[in-house]
Amino acid sequence: MVDDDAQVRHAIARVIEGHGLATAEAASGSEALALLQRDGEIPLVISDIYMPEMDGVTFLREALRLFPDMAIIMLTGVAEVTTAVECLKLGALDYISKPVLVEEVRARVDKALEKRQLVLQNRFYQQNLEGRVRELDRRNRQSLINGVQTLVHALEAKDAYTSGHSSRVSRYAVKTAVRLGYTADRLEHIRLGGELHDTGKIGTREDILNKPGPLTPEEFEHIKVHATLGERILAPFLSESPMVLRIVRHHHERLDGGGFPDGLIGGDIPHEARIVAVVDAFDAMTTNRAYRPSRTPADAVAELRDCAGTHFDREIVDAFLAAFRDVSALPLSN
Ligand SMILES: [Fe+2]
Repeated sequence: MVDDDAQVRHAIARVIEGHGLATAEAASGSEALALLQRDGEIPLVISDIYMPEMDGVTFLREALRLFPDMAIIMLTGVAEVTTAVECLKLGALDYISKPVLVEEVRARVDKALEKRQLVLQNRFYQQNLEGRVRELDRRNRQSLINGVQTLVHALEAKDAYTSGHSSRVSRYAVKTAVRLGYTADRLEHIRLGGELHDTGKIGTREDILNKPGPLTPEEFEHIKVHATLGERILAPFLSESPMVLRIVRHHHERLDGGGFPDGLIGGDIPHEARIVAVVDAFDAMTTNRAYRPSRTPADAVAELRDCAGTHFDREIVDAFLAAFRDVSALPLSN
């Protein structure tokens, strides 16, 4: 209760105490501010407008700046209605005109406290809700990605040749990326991109995927579609991780522009996709495929070296070999 008139101040404080609330009194705006700063926020303040030292309007401004959630009721003389309205605009919740009626003080105090509580509750729910929606959205996306990953694994498991391919590619790629100085988010893109790079194979014909022997040009065209198809399947769940989508799309590009789907050249191919391209090729070579038996790791390494500079990024091939010094221990088991 802030008023320089001690009589009015005491009287209203007694009314409020009689209403079951604890009170504190201040004779001026500056005294009230000092009290607030010492004791912390008070839910409701009733303040006179005309006071020496610091008037009610200045006090209102300062108090709301420090404690935006405080409910403030202005006490006004009959002649000060314009000032009272001005105070409402500045954030006061209500005003009481003098001479003060006991019943009116009680009613306005109750209303102001109720209104403040509603505002706080609303804000709490709103903030909470936003957080929960975000969390739910994140979880939804995650479970959709998990679902796609399960599908990819199931597809690989059906075929003894490719079983575990995506997980191995992911692990090779991460270790190579660490070697190349990747950290945090970029590593996570590589991990997920490795896991999901062949998602599009969900949509390719199994008889072509598992065909023993060389593919016809038409069949090869059909297989090529898996890069763009994978990107399309995943796009709705990965709008916040565009790099993962780029890895999926570009993991068959070649440095010399001879790859697919876009024939990107050199540095135009995302670095992450170039990493996956190297380790994908290594895993394909060192595991049995329907159309040929596996090659020894040493043989695969020689092939990577041969194709460094044309197919593959030389620095990435070197990083992969540095990350796995003992390639004879590869492929990694599941
Ligand atoms: Fe692929």
